[in-house]
Amino acid sequence: MSTAVPVRHGDYGIDGDFRVVSARGQAAIITAIIVALLVLTVVAAVGGWTVLAVVTALLALAIALVTASYLWTTRAGKFRAWARVLGDLQLRGDEHVLDLGCGRGAVLLMAAQLLPRGRAVGIDLWRADQTGNGPEVTLRNAEREGVTGRVEVVTGDVTRLPFDDNTFDVVLSSLVIHNIPSAADRQTAIDEAVRVLRPGGRLAVADLLATGRHRARLRELGLTEVRRRNLGPHMWWLGPLIPTRLVTATKPGEKSQ
Ligand SMILES: C[S@@+](CC[C@H](N)C(=O)[O-])C[C@H]1O[C@@H](n2cnc3c(N)ncnc32)[C@H](O)[C@@H]1O
Repeated sequence: MSTAVPVRHGDYGIDGDFRVVSARGQAAIITAIIVALLVLTVVAAVGGWTVLAVVTALLALAIALVTASYLWTTRAGKFRAWARVLGDLQLRGDEHVLDLGCGRGAVLLMAAQLLPRGRAVGIDLWRADQTGNGPEVTLRNAEREGVTGRVEVVTGDVTRLPFDDNTFDVVLSSLVIHNIPSAADRQTAIDEAVRVLRPGGRLAVADLLATGRHRARLRELGLTEVRRRNLGPHMWWLGPLIPTRLVTATKPGEKSQ
């Protein structure tokens, strides 16, 4: 089932790895490369080096297309993909939802909009994986989206969740677990997500890497309806070279009321 993509009033930044080079720095480098390739194309064409001109023009086009695909995903595509994922969950509207690595609230606040009688909690460590992320930014976005009263933001690590066992009806995560450096800690994040999920609760984790391992771990932990699927062009990062996959599962036990 698909859900309409809500009109966004907040600012959700750009996803990426900005530990070494800032987003502006990366944009400047990409622009400089494209401009240099275009200059080379013109010089080669004027000099009669047709093959070189074609190669440099195609390279410039490829880099521009890949960059456009990336920007589409981070600014618009991911919202469309998650609207569908949230729609598929068919929330009643009174659930207690946790978003692991909520960042500026892209998924957290879309979930909150579907929870008129529920609560959406986001947890994040505010690392350089998204431009300008911080608890005050997420709360400002919550205000802009009109969901302040039902949203809580916690600073913490997804590998050590500060919540009791069996607390949440739904646990979500978008583009977070691949940022955890060690495979053991990535597995701990999955284990923690399952620990805080109520019996009958649902898990939806979207990520770039190791989603096959997440699926295997969830099966090992006894979750049911464990599935993995490609979220398609709305969540391509370098075109189809880096797709995002969604792993969904249900914790066995009685459905939460
Ligand atoms: C690429 S951003 C995605 C944010 C958000 N889920 C979204 O889709 O817009 C990744 C987020 O995960 C957070 N993060 C990375 N490792 C984390 C950890 N171990 N615990 C909590 N948050 C983490 C980063 O601070 C960042 O805000």
